[in-house]
Amino acid sequence: MLPSVVLSIALANGALAAYSFKPLEHLAGIAPYFEPADPPLDPKPAQGCNVTRASYLVRHAAIYANDFDYEEYIEPFTDKLKNTSVDWSKAGPLSFLATWQTPISDEELEELTKVGELEAFQLGVDVSLRYPGFKPPKKVWTSTAERTEKSAQSFIEGLVERSNGTERVSVPESKAEGADSLTPYKGCPKYSSSAGSKQSSQYKEIYTKPIVEHFHDLAPSFNFTADDIVGMQELCGYETVIRGSSPFCSLEVFSPNEWLGFEYMNDIQYHYNTGYGNPISGVLGYPWFNATAGVLMSDDSDQDIYISFTHRELPPTLVVAMGLFNNSAFSGANNPNATMPLAIQNHRRAWKSSRILPFLANIAVETLSCDSYGFDAGDYFRVVVNRSPQHLPDCADGPGESCSKGKFEEFVKARGEMFGGYTEQCQPEYNNSTNVLSIYEDA
Ligand SMILES: *[C@@H]1O[C@H](CO)[C@@H](O)[C@H](O)[C@H]1NC(C)=O
Ligand SMILES: *[C@@H]1O[C@H](CO)[C@@H](O)[C@H](O)[C@H]1NC(C)=O
Ligand SMILES: *[C@@H]1O[C@H](CO)[C@@H](O)[C@H](O)[C@H]1NC(C)=O
Ligand SMILES: *[C@@H]1O[C@H](CO)[C@@H](O)[C@H](O)[C@H]1NC(C)=O
Ligand SMILES: *[C@@H]1O[C@H](CO)[C@@H](O)[C@H](O)[C@H]1NC(C)=O
Ligand SMILES: *[C@@H]1O[C@H](CO)[C@@H](O)[C@H](O)[C@H]1NC(C)=O
Ligand SMILES: *[C@@H]1O[C@H](CO)[C@@H](O)[C@H](O)[C@H]1NC(C)=O
Ligand SMILES: *[C@@H]1O[C@H](CO)[C@@H](O)[C@H](O)[C@H]1NC(C)=O
Ligand SMILES: *[C@@H]1O[C@H](CO)[C@@H](O)[C@H](O)[C@H]1NC(C)=O
Repeated sequence: MLPSVVLSIALANGALAAYSFKPLEHLAGIAPYFEPADPPLDPKPAQGCNVTRASYLVRHAAIYANDFDYEEYIEPFTDKLKNTSVDWSKAGPLSFLATWQTPISDEELEELTKVGELEAFQLGVDVSLRYPGFKPPKKVWTSTAERTEKSAQSFIEGLVERSNGTERVSVPESKAEGADSLTPYKGCPKYSSSAGSKQSSQYKEIYTKPIVEHFHDLAPSFNFTADDIVGMQELCGYETVIRGSSPFCSLEVFSPNEWLGFEYMNDIQYHYNTGYGNPISGVLGYPWFNATAGVLMSDDSDQDIYISFTHRELPPTLVVAMGLFNNSAFSGANNPNATMPLAIQNHRRAWKSSRILPFLANIAVETLSCDSYGFDAGDYFRVVVNRSPQHLPDCADGPGESCSKGKFEEFVKARGEMFGGYTEQCQPEYNNSTNVLSIYEDA
């Protein structure tokens, strides 16, 4: 081939393409829904397999801002902004702050945005297309917060032809439910919502220091703090799901490496809060997994698909209960905290919260009926997180990351030995706690 032909083929194939980076895929709990292809396996069931039943745990869709993020980081920054005499027009990449107005007000906190509603509807449509043979579910479950109820409703409208045929069942979020709710962390005194803030603060100081100094150079009298930086980065996510885009997401404002710093700080927080760094995490996630295994393996389930809506805390605990995204996997060691150093990023970690719990995060467990080359015909089970198939540890003897029925039964039992006993582990003060999630039993 002539060199010029080779060059034009190379260009067409993007061989010389510029480096690119998407901040929205690194925003941890504020990431708008995306499918990270982690790992990049084909989401379709393996050759010869049909999905015959499925169970989904779904985080609510995008909201205006949660109370904590707003009060701790965003509002202090926006209040300061209202009251500053800085001439932003001279502040280079921050010049947009001269006219920028906050998209969030006190009244809308915690509410679903229009983008969130649309995305929940869209996920409903997507799920219906994944399982064309399924009957519409009689019930869909949701914890009772307005944002979870509304997410469930929009999802149902996307999923089924006639939404009046599907009941939305509200599962109380109150404390004394033990494991029998979609918010089991609320009734567990061994869980603390602030776990991880001490550790993540250490990394916050490290990654924000150069940003603070850079911004100080641009606008000395604003007195930027580490928390202002966090608030501004959070605004990238929230403003995007409110207005469709945000000037804070510009790579002129924060560089790719600065976004990765924000992401790692969050990953440390979730590691110690609802991840492998908190011994109670798997205990909180196990009841949903056990209940799901029950309906998937039962001979007479009433529904083809079981779907439950919850908050950001539950999906990562379920991930731990199932042993997925485990930084220590294949290492032969088990020292989870050492895998998330507080002074430097572990870029090779499996634990990336943006990929585990974005808005509308969804974790599916499916029953497959397979007659596949190289495997015995029969029932298999597989887990799909945000549309990427995952294999369970020591439970992947089937086609396409799936696990045979016998192995799966053993797996559910073994995880129960690790993480069962909610009441004993959580030691709640109320005396009617339970270890099992029973919401699906009378479906
Ligand atoms: C606004 O700025 C003025 C002057 O710098 C200061 O005295 C006042 O306390 C500030 N108000 C708020 C709400 O921060
Ligand atoms: C749902 O609505 C449709 C159309 O309005 C109606 O024909 C159907 O009977 C309703 N189904 C139920 C279960 O109420
Ligand atoms: C325990 O009792 C409280 C108060 O009566 C009730 O709201 C709650 O549902 C009960 N929990 C369970 C697991 O039955
Ligand atoms: C700047 O912010 C820091 C941290 O909040 C505070 O301690 C300091 O007094 C502030 N300085 C000025 C000049 O406002
Ligand atoms: C990891 O750190 C947390 C918080 O300090 C601690 O509770 C947990 O036991 C540690 N995990 C291990 C395996 O040492
Ligand atoms: C994570 O992986 C290590 C190494 O395989 C294993 O010892 C540990 O039990 C796993 N953690 C969980 C919660 O599954
Ligand atoms: C999967 O579904 C197709 C189409 O309905 C059917 O022909 C095939 O036999 C099914 N395979 C298994 C293993 O159930
Ligand atoms: C799993 O669920 C079943 C059915 O509800 C229950 O009998 C069993 O005790 C549960 N396992 C654990 C470890 O909680
Ligand atoms: C549980 O606690 C309630 C209120 O504290 C008390 O009335 C009830 O007798 C207790 N039940 C049992 C079985 O201990």
